[in-house]
Amino acid sequence: MAELLPGAPVTELDALGPAESLREYQSRGGYESLRSVRDKSGDDIIAAVREAGLTGRGGAGFPAAAKWEAARRGPAPRYLVVNGAEGEPGSYKDRHLMARAPHQVLEGMLIAARAIDASEILVYINSEFQAAHRALADAIEALRATDLASALVPIRLKPENHVYIAGEETALLSVLMGRPAWPWPKPPYPTERGYDGHPTVVNNVETLAHVPVIIRRGPDWYREHQPTLFSVTGDVSRPGVFELPLGIAVRDLIEQAGGPLAGDQVEAVLPGGYSLPWLRADQLDVTFSADALEAAGTGLGASVIVVGARQGLGLAAARVSAFFARETCETCPVCVTGTARLAQLLRPGASRALAVAESEEVAGVAAQHRHMGICTLLDTAASMALQTC
Ligand SMILES: Cc1cc2nc3c(=O)[nH]c(=O)nc-3n(C[C@H](O)[C@H](O)[C@H](O)COP(=O)(O)O)c2cc1C
Ligand code: SF4
Repeated sequence: MAELLPGAPVTELDALGPAESLREYQSRGGYESLRSVRDKSGDDIIAAVREAGLTGRGGAGFPAAAKWEAARRGPAPRYLVVNGAEGEPGSYKDRHLMARAPHQVLEGMLIAARAIDASEILVYINSEFQAAHRALADAIEALRATDLASALVPIRLKPENHVYIAGEETALLSVLMGRPAWPWPKPPYPTERGYDGHPTVVNNVETLAHVPVIIRRGPDWYREHQPTLFSVTGDVSRPGVFELPLGIAVRDLIEQAGGPLAGDQVEAVLPGGYSLPWLRADQLDVTFSADALEAAGTGLGASVIVVGARQGLGLAAARVSAFFARETCETCPVCVTGTARLAQLLRPGASRALAVAESEEVAGVAAQHRHMGICTLLDTAASMALQTC
């Protein structure tokens, strides 16, 4: 299956490119969808995306159609903002999509822009992804030279020096408006008041790459096949980006990534990078569907990280908590102290099992910090810590 990313599986995670040309993209049906929506209304496009059941691939899993509809109800001008930050540990899919399948991402953006009648598209690109930036710029120029040039709305590519928190949608909008990467409390949601105070849809790169597939193949085909990009890293023999049907069992995805390292075995799996609770070794038959993952106490996120028994959960939890303590944006004092305290309490777990009293303290501190910050970073840090107790 290669509906999204030609050349998948990608196992050279740091080597971006080469970019698929316009001709190559067209030879696999590229831009047929954009052509076909030219005589469709925004409502028709949104209906197809709703019927397909497309959910956001940036980590929150929000239905794309609901977001688009909310923005479309708001007054013009409206904006589409593409989230190419890809700061989630273990996630590589978005940079490869932009670098290797720039036309697919561009076609998705243009269809989404048409659906919400956006006057402009802003693409936030992590400035480390230079090949992705170049590929998108070239794709825009190549399309401009075709009869589809009239479908181009103004697009600004915005490479930005990246910090993790800037991937959060309101922090990302703040950066695009020339401010520090600080999230704002929601509401107002970006669909109500986003870029420059106007209705704005923020979508992840992969989310948009699915849109041409939905229009070309139809919602029924899409629901049946559900092509998805999985970034699998951690303690596996063949880390990579894999294009596989959503609904694959966690165990089978790990096999696709070469299985556990030699002599190791799976102790836990983080199905949503550092942002969602992990699955235990006895939960590997759970499938990657929003419902199944939710029933297992977690969700579908941007990356899949496998933790082997040799590393152990204690070390993984210490790493995760240290990450959040480092990445807090320091807007909320409670987040600064809370993430630092959790990291300090979990640090000894890297080398030994925590004593009962230590675990109880982690549980107490984590419980106190649930739902306390402006964004979900602190809540995530607390939930991840609670799982270790
Ligand atoms: C701390 C934090 C970091 C995030 N980083 C990213 C990111 O790097 N890329 C991304 O697409 N979404 C990221 N998100 C999710 C975005 O806030 C937002 O939900 C997403 O861009 C919406 O797009 P989607 O609906 O297409 O998934 C992050 C969220 C949080 C709380
Ligand atoms: S919860 Fe933490 S990361 Fe989020 S806004 Fe507050 S200080 Fe920043």
